[in-house]
Amino acid sequence: MPNQSISRKFPSDPIELGKRSLIHDPADGNPDKITLVRALGSLVWDDQGREYLDCTAQAWSNNLGATDPRVVNAAITQLREIAHARTNFNTPVQLKLTAKLREIAPGDLHRVGYCLHGSLAVEMAIKLAFKNRSGASNLIVLQDGYHGRSITTLAASWPHPKNPFLAIQPRFTRVPRPDLYRPRLNLEPEIESALCLQLLEDALTKGVDGTVAAILMEPIQGNGGHNEFPLSYLKGVREICDRHGILLIWDEIQTGFGRLGTMWASDYYGIVPDIMTFGKGIGGGFPLAGILASEELQGFDPGEDALTFGQFPVAMAAALATINAIISDGLCERARDHGVFATERLLQMQNKHKLIGHVRGPGLFVSVELVRDRITKEPACVEAAEVYKRGAARGVLFGESRYAGLGNLIKIKPPLDCTREQLSHALDVLDGVLGSIEAEMA
Ligand SMILES: Cc1ncc(COP(=O)(O)O)c(C=O)c1O
Repeated sequence: MPNQSISRKFPSDPIELGKRSLIHDPADGNPDKITLVRALGSLVWDDQGREYLDCTAQAWSNNLGATDPRVVNAAITQLREIAHARTNFNTPVQLKLTAKLREIAPGDLHRVGYCLHGSLAVEMAIKLAFKNRSGASNLIVLQDGYHGRSITTLAASWPHPKNPFLAIQPRFTRVPRPDLYRPRLNLEPEIESALCLQLLEDALTKGVDGTVAAILMEPIQGNGGHNEFPLSYLKGVREICDRHGILLIWDEIQTGFGRLGTMWASDYYGIVPDIMTFGKGIGGGFPLAGILASEELQGFDPGEDALTFGQFPVAMAAALATINAIISDGLCERARDHGVFATERLLQMQNKHKLIGHVRGPGLFVSVELVRDRITKEPACVEAAEVYKRGAARGVLFGESRYAGLGNLIKIKPPLDCTREQLSHALDVLDGVLGSIEAEMA
């Protein structure tokens, strides 16, 4: 018998009941959280019938616009054939996708591993690094990096405020990284890059006990503030890894599949890591992630990396269709062109809007950092929150950043196949919203 007094307290509407039953904060810290019901290309619709231009590409995952018919059809066809096969079995779609990834992989990153989430892909990369550097006891990560929310990847990311999991997390060594917008002691980028390389080397030789298996880093930091690094820094890290026999892991979960205007950040910078993670954009909206690893590395033995849904054939069929569409539609070139258009327009807007402190790219990895004062660079967090809110009210969802209380980045990262008109409209709305906020501040 259900307890009448308890059941009476809850709404009978399953949507309301569902909201109250989620273990995560149903508003996710956002009182204006929207319930999405439909998506097409760069557009999404909420349960009130409102249409939005989605400049978040749903956590920068829809590099190909949402519900592309080629992806949907591939997934449906696969669903009718076989939806689930445990990792003790191969499937044709898994082997075809692996061959495709090998074809587009940089350098000799010809070994492929799969899972469903970016965080687990990073864990897989870490495991492979330790497997190949037996006896090593350290992993180096960069300050302000972000690698996920599993127990291990939380520890590899920036210090999580009020982290309740500290007691059971591994400890990694975080080293400083160059900061193009807020360089230490106002150093020139090349000098700061050299300083950070020196500090990295110091950490390797004097900052850790035992040996280091790998350096884990994003080639451009995403959630930690859209931080691009000087090429000299990226090259220097590669060189240090080679000299010390340390593996270099690039987390390409945000940068992969065309977002920078090339298939990988590795292609953009001309640097090949030893292990690379991928996720987000590969699946065309379906969950899929994994690693690409150098042929030189020893792979996993049975039992070291087997997950029940480690290969999800439906997501793999969607991924194969997505990669083919990214290539055949020329989306890398499109991202490059859109990116130039967006950043040029934002730089023009910077002349007019005091709030714009810094414009960031490359490709469609676009953002602006809002500041109250261009000299002190005080983050304009309240103003940024107003931009998200007013943007949504005008039908544009801008990407936000709540990293470590910074919260002042406006990300403009729609699907790569958005139209020029859509991108232009998003920038017009940003222009108008910044203008209205600045008028109220004056
Ligand atoms: C660079 C990077 N690595 C890892 C992750 C974690 O991916 P997931 O959320 O799929 O676990 C993210 C997610 O934002 C990411 O940006």
